[in-house]
Amino acid sequence: MTPTEAAWTRLLSLAQRPGASAIRSLFARDPNRYAAFHWQAGDIMLDLSKTSIDNAAMAALLALADAAGLMAARDAMAAGERVNNTEGRAVLHMALRAPRSAGFRARESDGRYEDASASVEETLAAMEHFTRAVHSGEIRSATGETFTDIINIGIGGSDLGPFMATRALWHEASPMRPLYLANADAHNWELIRPRLNPARTLVLVASKTFTTAETMANARVVRGWLEQTLGKDGMRQHLVALSTNKKATADFGVPADRVFGFHDWVGGRFSLWSSIGLSIALSCGWDEFSRLLAGARVMDEHFLEAQPARNLPLLLALTTVWHVNGLGLGNHAILPYDHRLSRFPAHLQQLEMESLGKRTTKGGQPVKRLTGPVLFGEPGTNAQHSFMQLLHQGTTPVPADFLLIANPSHPYAANHRLLLANGLAQSEALLRGRGAEEVRAEMTASGMSAPEIERLLPHRLFPGDRPSTTLLLPRLDAHTLGQLVALYEHKVFCLGVLWDIDAFDQWGVELGKQLSTSILPELMPEGRVGPHDPSTTGLIEKLREWQGMDI
Ligand code: F6P
Repeated sequence: MTPTEAAWTRLLSLAQRPGASAIRSLFARDPNRYAAFHWQAGDIMLDLSKTSIDNAAMAALLALADAAGLMAARDAMAAGERVNNTEGRAVLHMALRAPRSAGFRARESDGRYEDASASVEETLAAMEHFTRAVHSGEIRSATGETFTDIINIGIGGSDLGPFMATRALWHEASPMRPLYLANADAHNWELIRPRLNPARTLVLVASKTFTTAETMANARVVRGWLEQTLGKDGMRQHLVALSTNKKATADFGVPADRVFGFHDWVGGRFSLWSSIGLSIALSCGWDEFSRLLAGARVMDEHFLEAQPARNLPLLLALTTVWHVNGLGLGNHAILPYDHRLSRFPAHLQQLEMESLGKRTTKGGQPVKRLTGPVLFGEPGTNAQHSFMQLLHQGTTPVPADFLLIANPSHPYAANHRLLLANGLAQSEALLRGRGAEEVRAEMTASGMSAPEIERLLPHRLFPGDRPSTTLLLPRLDAHTLGQLVALYEHKVFCLGVLWDIDAFDQWGVELGKQLSTSILPELMPEGRVGPHDPSTTGLIEKLREWQGMDI
């Protein structure tokens, strides 16, 4: 048996012990449990004490990380090795937020190393110059006015990260108003269009490949909208491209000095720190964008330097291994108790599920164990009035991350206390549960009859011992947001190593893209329905019928 398999066996045998998912008894046995199971890195405090990981389980999890060579894998990523092995690429989003002196290099296919930090510095300088020139009015619209609005056209990582960050950081005094257009459904554009004046809108086409069908379809629509008012030459002055594909951006009509590039060693879901983040800089200000990068760098340094037993990204990843593989819990809830983080769960859905939704090892074998859980979330307290019922009393325990922010940026102290009290109460309730004695006493005190109490009792019981993790931040700003996002990015990297899967490819999105290309002509008036399974054929025929076409 390999050392890694031996470590898995040891871990899984601990998870199968009777009572392995109990949490209350751990607190009862160890009054110092909170002290022993919370850590801080930078501005983020992580509390794992409300999980069923005890000292033995933690030791076994850390032994697994050691056997899997996690720290060596981390160092290989930082050294620019091609750790994305199915695409033959280095993974260097850390270079995007590091100073030039950090000296990140990316290994090329011919074995040579490219100076990643130098090209990052160059791109950041160009982005800063452009951002400041737009804000100062040095760069103006085709009609000579200042730009007031931006629309970012992109999807997946070219939308979710920047959208999440501007939602978190933008406020009324920010320099420009941002809007995001992702969905191929033009109802999305119809919603946005009335809010925009073409003469004052800068259009950012964000696409690593510049071939993504949805983005290019939307970009053509918006380009046409600009052209109607500003003409062909005027329209070009409003276009900006964020892409690695220089040729396609030129073919689309974007002036060369309005193209901000990056490299294939930046994955889409890790790209908000690259030129894909230009909408953050334009809408929130260059200094805010710089603080976001600096925050991420704080977490990078922690991830690169901290011992495994105190390494926050690794500890978060090991907690997921315990829940998914040890206890068989295949769902995970993200609950930010801050409305500015309302797009954070959506960003993490792509980051985690596109990275970890894999069933083949890096060596090409079927995985032996479960991999990425289903992730979902909503900001608290809204979540409490939708799906939290299932977390408290449903048949499947769902581990949850609670994100709490000590100090808000608004002056409504009473609201903030209410918010925090609710966040704390939810994780306390999940842990504590509610037994028959307590429920009976409460119902008796309210004057209920004995038969009524017995009838309702089972419905009012809470099992408790349901796991949660709490992340506490002193405040939410660009610097702490950078740390938070980087924390989850590195967690994803760790899980990729622990599960021996490539967390940086996404082959699973290809088949649907290809099939949609072949279905497209079948939805044209002159099209004919091709060979499909009977369900797809039936659905296409019905759509054609309802659209008034021949079948
Ligand atoms: O959904 C697949 C994907 O490739 C994502 O990984 C990526 O973030 C998104 O599409 C958008 O890709 P692009 O930036 O090339 O348009």
